[in-house]
Amino acid sequence: MGKIYEHISHVYDLFWGKWSPGYVSLISETLEGQMPDKVTILDLGCGTGVLAVELARLGYTVDGVDISPQMIEMAESKATEFPQVNFKVADMVELETTEKFDCVTCTFDSINYLLEIGQLQKFMINVSTKLKPGGFFIFDSNTALLYETCQKGEFQRELGGQSFTQKLNFDPLKRLSTTTFNFSNGKKEVHHQRPYDPDEITLCLKDAGMEVIRTYGGLKGEPFLYDSKRLICVAEKPF
Ligand SMILES: C[S@@+](CC[C@H](N)C(=O)[O-])C[C@H]1O[C@@H](n2cnc3c(N)ncnc32)[C@H](O)[C@@H]1O
Repeated sequence: MGKIYEHISHVYDLFWGKWSPGYVSLISETLEGQMPDKVTILDLGCGTGVLAVELARLGYTVDGVDISPQMIEMAESKATEFPQVNFKVADMVELETTEKFDCVTCTFDSINYLLEIGQLQKFMINVSTKLKPGGFFIFDSNTALLYETCQKGEFQRELGGQSFTQKLNFDPLKRLSTTTFNFSNGKKEVHHQRPYDPDEITLCLKDAGMEVIRTYGGLKGEPFLYDSKRLICVAEKPF
């Protein structure tokens, strides 16, 4: 069985890659008044670099980090014209760097790959240590409602000349979502995610020395409500 994104990386942008570039306005509005070429951003769980490259296009200096070598390979292939973006393979929970950033991002479910609250706590502390005082952490997390309502069924997909099925399942008692990709050439990938409650996230942020300054239920600025499927959060590490 392949590791996460080992195979799906090659077709990721064709189906899943369009969402995170929608973060560019929220990020640039949050950083308003700061010169893009002076701002450093760390994009954790950056995947194929769809967001990092758009931020680099605006002049921001971006470091992208992802646990999947295949996703980073795809990211590097689209970043050749932007010297101010760099990618590296690493676990975002364990990432070690002494550099401090003005902004850390982690978008499109990357946080939901952390399967235990202890991992989320450790991750948030790590994010906090990477932020300069006054820096922002902008991220999202799927709610339980998303998994309860959308994480079911089996879909046949044809993308980039590849044919595969995507089977979705959610166990509410274990709070565990499973997505199985079966490719026509026999290759297989299994992804596990879990939802986090807004209260769990707020507490982890607080324990890590950050505070929530804005939340949304969608990228058009919709308010986060009890029936939102995704929490979008702007947090700050106070001075
Ligand atoms: C749904 S993709 C989102 C990618 C990208 N942020 C985007 O918006 O398209 C989730 C990403 O999280 C990465 N990921 C999962 N667990 C990780 C970890 N512990 N450290 C770093 N990256 C991780 C996966 O490899 C994958 O690229």
